[in-house]
Amino acid sequence: MSKTIIITGGAGFIGSHVVRLFVTKYPGYKIINLDALTYAGNLENLRDIEDSPNYYFEKADILDKDAIERTFQLHQPDAVIHLAAESHVDRSILSPLDFVYTNVIGTVNLLNTAKHFWKDDYSGKRFYHVSTDEVYGALGETGFFTEETKYDPHSPYSASKASSDHFVRAYYDTYGLPVVVSNCSNNYGPNHFPEKLIPLFINNVIHKKPLPVYGDGLYTRDWLFVKDHATAIDLVFHNGKTGDTYNIGGFNEWRNIDLVKLLCKLMDEKLGNNAGTSDSLITYVKDRPGHDRRYAIDASKINKELGWKPSVTFEEGLSQTIDWYLANTEWLKHVTSGAYQHYYEEQYHKR
Ligand code: NAD
Ligand code: DAU
Repeated sequence: MSKTIIITGGAGFIGSHVVRLFVTKYPGYKIINLDALTYAGNLENLRDIEDSPNYYFEKADILDKDAIERTFQLHQPDAVIHLAAESHVDRSILSPLDFVYTNVIGTVNLLNTAKHFWKDDYSGKRFYHVSTDEVYGALGETGFFTEETKYDPHSPYSASKASSDHFVRAYYDTYGLPVVVSNCSNNYGPNHFPEKLIPLFINNVIHKKPLPVYGDGLYTRDWLFVKDHATAIDLVFHNGKTGDTYNIGGFNEWRNIDLVKLLCKLMDEKLGNNAGTSDSLITYVKDRPGHDRRYAIDASKINKELGWKPSVTFEEGLSQTIDWYLANTEWLKHVTSGAYQHYYEEQYHKR
């Protein structure tokens, strides 16, 4: 089988793992990484595959209709796997409009282009939207998000992703565009930008900086190794039912403070520190506004229908992740220079 797939956001954290998986696993496919290279996009993430004959990079903003149309004309894609987004909740609290532009309008721009380019002849076509569990809102002590859970987003980020999900489904219902959507829990792993909890705390331990735990630290997230998310995306892309939604999660809930303590213990072991050295950096700070208490995914549909399950335990995945950051200090140095310092100051100086 031969396919031409545009993967948006391929220079970002999850996108780079998806691009690598598709380029290496499917040498007969043509993979086009379409990315604007915002602060979160980094072609260093793809150094190892950038010379592959089936890999192409197009620098384009999904808000730029002409550039998107040109990319479709040039490459004639059969499918889009759409990951490009503004993805950080704290940034969405600082600048909500950026999230509306990229996540909502950018997504509609892509949907429109796909619809017009495929001229309503949808055989062999697919538009896959990669979304988040945050659209479902917050859980109490018990229960799980299923594919039927009502949307109840609380942050500007999750509201923008919920809106984009609604537009994707509206294009299926209204125009028959062959869409599929997945909603995943918190990812972690190599190439994660150090503004999110795990890579931020790894970077801060390396530099002996405070570890800012929001609120009481008892917020709970369900963590999935990024390479397991990429294999789930591969399965949903190839075997998911058109018009359907698949929840993806790690069956792996951690309260933030417990996760941070495990991370500190592993880092002390790997850095040869005395036990408790990194723990002493933990600092409770002002809570995130509108902070969702608990997320937990029921991933039984993708397990039963597509045979997917996570391949690594959290302890293994976290250990591999820390090893990657310790071996890639140049990568960390590059992404934390310049604009990163400005963001860090704005986000944390008053907390
Ligand atoms: P990321 O922030 O690491 O990467 C986003 C990528 O999109 C970057 O390469 C950036 O340059 C690109 N991008 C941003 N705006 C763009 C624009 N206007 N035009 C073109 N490219 C643009 O994000 P991530 O964590 O890899 O998340 C990828 C997708 O997966 C997002 O849609 C996110 O909502 C979703 N998701 C993320 C997680 C997670 O835990 N990180 C979990 C579930 C779902
Ligand atoms: O659930 C999926 C979502 O997971 C994705 O859609 C988002 O793109 C991704 O960023 C992530 O969102 P979170 O807000 O859950 O991730 P973050 O790493 O920002 O925060 C994880 C938890 O840690 C959350 O409860 C807030 C807390 N936290 C975070 C930071 C950055 C802290 O306590 N201190 C911090 O400095």
